[in-house]
Amino acid sequence: MRRKLAAGNWKMNGTREDLAQIDAMLQAHGACRCDLLICPPATLVQAACDRARGSTLMIGGQDCHDQPQGAHTGDISADMLADAGARAVILGHSERRQNHGERNETVRAKTAQAWQAGLMAVVCVGETEADRDAANTLDIVGGQLAGSIPDAATGANLVVAYEPVWAIGTGRVASLDQIGEVHDFIRGRLERRFGTGVGRSVRLLYGGSVKPDNAAQIFGVSNVDGALVGGASLTARDFSPIVAALDAST
Ligand code: PGA
Repeated sequence: MRRKLAAGNWKMNGTREDLAQIDAMLQAHGACRCDLLICPPATLVQAACDRARGSTLMIGGQDCHDQPQGAHTGDISADMLADAGARAVILGHSERRQNHGERNETVRAKTAQAWQAGLMAVVCVGETEADRDAANTLDIVGGQLAGSIPDAATGANLVVAYEPVWAIGTGRVASLDQIGEVHDFIRGRLERRFGTGVGRSVRLLYGGSVKPDNAAQIFGVSNVDGALVGGASLTARDFSPIVAALDAST
């Protein structure tokens, strides 16, 4: 019922020569039964969209402002992303929560802007290592979910990415039990808040050191509908086996 989604977050990596990776991904996955999303840096969004036009590969942004326009030097709006051809945007990534002090309310306002612009929001949640050690994981994730998502969620406009902060870029993956526990919890919270129809239609991605050699196992966990991949999404060589593993799990 939920279409699987493989999403790549290039973070602050990539210049025009890396658009060749998008071409290679398009070539490799033309017949893929999953949805594919690549979120390159803002400077490459338009060029990436031009390459991916007419294909099943969506291009997205990595952030947008919580206001529609105005005096916000250096920021970009959801409308600007949509105008460049983006179809989605990652919001509330832990690197933005940590490095830019983004709070749940800000992420919620950004998500509302994304929806205004017709973008699918990939809203990120996840606990720090200290939270997990203190057995606060579900409280933290529950609070982020409640605070970061506006009321008008649907299966089409929202994707939730569970990314334990301690697993991002560290090579330390959450165990399958840990992933399953949190994904089941998120599903329950979404069903409770938005009703079972919407709650069951929102896709849940796992993120944090997903690699070609661990992807298939992760995709076997209940309520995992795909992955948000950082480092291993930068090249088609690494991302393609992850996409293939997701396709095989459908
Ligand atoms: P990683 O990043 O795959 O490099 O751990 C994931 C993310 O931050 O989305």
